[in-house]
Amino acid sequence: MKHKQSHSAKETEMIGYELGLLLKSEKRVVILLNGELGSGKTTFAKGLARALNVKEIVNSPTFTIMKKYDTDNIECTFFHLDLYRLDQIGNDFDLEEYIDGDGMVVIEWPYNVKALLPNDHLLVGINKTGDETRDITMECVGYPCKRAVQYI
Ligand SMILES: Nc1ncnc2c1ncn2[C@@H]1O[C@H](COP(=O)(O)OP(=O)(O)O)[C@@H](O)[C@H]1O
Ligand SMILES: [Mg+2]
Repeated sequence: MKHKQSHSAKETEMIGYELGLLLKSEKRVVILLNGELGSGKTTFAKGLARALNVKEIVNSPTFTIMKKYDTDNIECTFFHLDLYRLDQIGNDFDLEEYIDGDGMVVIEWPYNVKALLPNDHLLVGINKTGDETRDITMECVGYPCKRAVQYI
């Protein structure tokens, strides 16, 4: 597991960007963003998207569950999900129903539902330690992203 300290929103975005660059060549990668409201999950996701050259502005998809973004690679889509509201519905959630292509799948509030999430994923934990400071952990669970976590 890797630990990083962030001292600003910009730094958190940059850590996301660096991780995104390392994961760019993966055919399919799932990144779970875990942390309380306002910890910086969407900020981190913006950095991941920037690494894939997403041109559209990435905002929190809270009211839509999922938003899709084109990247600079036609075979790679950036999928941004927010499962915050699903706890009220109490449904099981099947990720595969939402994902219709390869690319990077980023999920905020991944543990909010009894979700059918893939066993292989990269788990990013963001912990608020002050107004501007965050502890960020990155852990590769399963095979695909070990190299990225090693080098970040
Ligand atoms: N070090 C930091 N990392 C991330 N966000 C920070 C940091 N310091 C302050 N912030 C602020 O915290 C908020 C994080 O919001 P957001 O990324 O939407 O969080 P979440 O998606 O986890 O609810 C933003 O207003 C951001 O400017
Ligand atoms: Mg968010």
